[in-house]
Amino acid sequence: MTLKNRGEKVKQVMERATCVFTKAEVDAALDRMAKEMKQCLCDKNPVFLCVLLGGVVPLGNLLPRLDFELEINYIHMSSYAGTTQRGELFCKAKPSISLEDRTVVIVDDILDTGVTLRATTEFCLQEKAKEVLTAVLIDKRKPRKVNGLERADFTGLVMDDRFVFGYGLDYDEFLRNAPGIYVVADEDM
Ligand code: IMP
Ligand code: MG
Repeated sequence: MTLKNRGEKVKQVMERATCVFTKAEVDAALDRMAKEMKQCLCDKNPVFLCVLLGGVVPLGNLLPRLDFELEINYIHMSSYAGTTQRGELFCKAKPSISLEDRTVVIVDDILDTGVTLRATTEFCLQEKAKEVLTAVLIDKRKPRKVNGLERADFTGLVMDDRFVFGYGLDYDEFLRNAPGIYVVADEDM
């Protein structure tokens, strides 16, 4: 598909989608998460690790709400290609700072099967982090994969197992900028 066709398709996907959480609802969830984070982290000088790319919008919106000393950095997890199944995850882009002895807060868009957050947590522990916490904007209530992370330490919103986009979550790499959480219409799945 050409880029122009992808753009046109994505525009229709947005028009046909249903909003499940408005911007106001997301904002309220982020306010609550920030309060919980402050209580637990304000004296730990933590590193907030953005899981690329989906964690960009949740973390970007959390940061101005967090009034304590913290650093930010990034991590990019990816799965080995080659089979139709999503393969084992590996760290495609490592954080640019040492995690040794640090309290690390991993921030991602969504907890789905749980394998991304489990693998990211394991990576941080291998890098000798002192403590690893996880945060997601959305928790899809569903059975996790074997060894998938069951629950994040900080959760914004909980929803059923539907494919969603917005606030960092993509549809065909587009729509991460949508200003709410939207369910993709059946015809676009
Ligand atoms: P996991 O299955 O918990 O490892 O989720 C890993 C990644 O799958 C998330 O970081 C998202 O990038 C992606 N993902 C899972 N569910 C959705 C969805 O509904 N919309 C868009 N991306 C999703
Ligand atoms: Mg992602």
